[in-house]
Amino acid sequence: MNKSLFTLSICLLTSVFPLKAHEEDSSLEEQMKILAKGTRQLSQQIDNPTSQQSSIDLIENLKKAVKVSESLEPRKTVSIPQSDRGKFLAQYHAEMEKLFDLFNKIEGELKGGNYAMAKFSLPQLNLWRKRGICSSRRTKVI
Ligand code: HEM
Repeated sequence: MNKSLFTLSICLLTSVFPLKAHEEDSSLEEQMKILAKGTRQLSQQIDNPTSQQSSIDLIENLKKAVKVSESLEPRKTVSIPQSDRGKFLAQYHAEMEKLFDLFNKIEGELKGGNYAMAKFSLPQLNLWRKRGICSSRRTKVI
């Protein structure tokens, strides 16, 4: 086998059988991805009156994702000492409730046709990520 054929075979093999096993998303990460994708879509259409119903439906779905997230536990939970775990999870639930209330607020603004206000409220959805609460697996913060 010549050198380039050998290199090609290695490339093909590693794409079919990756050298490093892919780490599965946690159930919470899956919900977070729904939130991230949905929020992005919302930001593209929130001030468009012709998308009013679509935006409201989207928010309803995002609220469901928040409720599912609230029923799950962050990966970091297992590393919290048992004695602090209750407090940690209570804080986590409180943050999820804040997010739920924010979606309700934005939904109310949309239902009232107040698109400018809804658009103004949207950046608040980035607060959790800015605070470092939404860590990826590699930098578990919460
Ligand atoms: C609209 C608001 C939010 C968006 C767009 C969002 C987005 C994300 C994203 C993209 C990730 C990384 C997922 C990955 O690496 O695969 C993440 C992780 C995470 N987020 Fe959020 N997030 C939001 C709100 C919240 C809230 C309110 C909390 C509650 C404290 C929270 C807690 C977490 C945690 C704990 C993780 C790490 C996943 C785990 O521990 O399993 N997020 N988030």
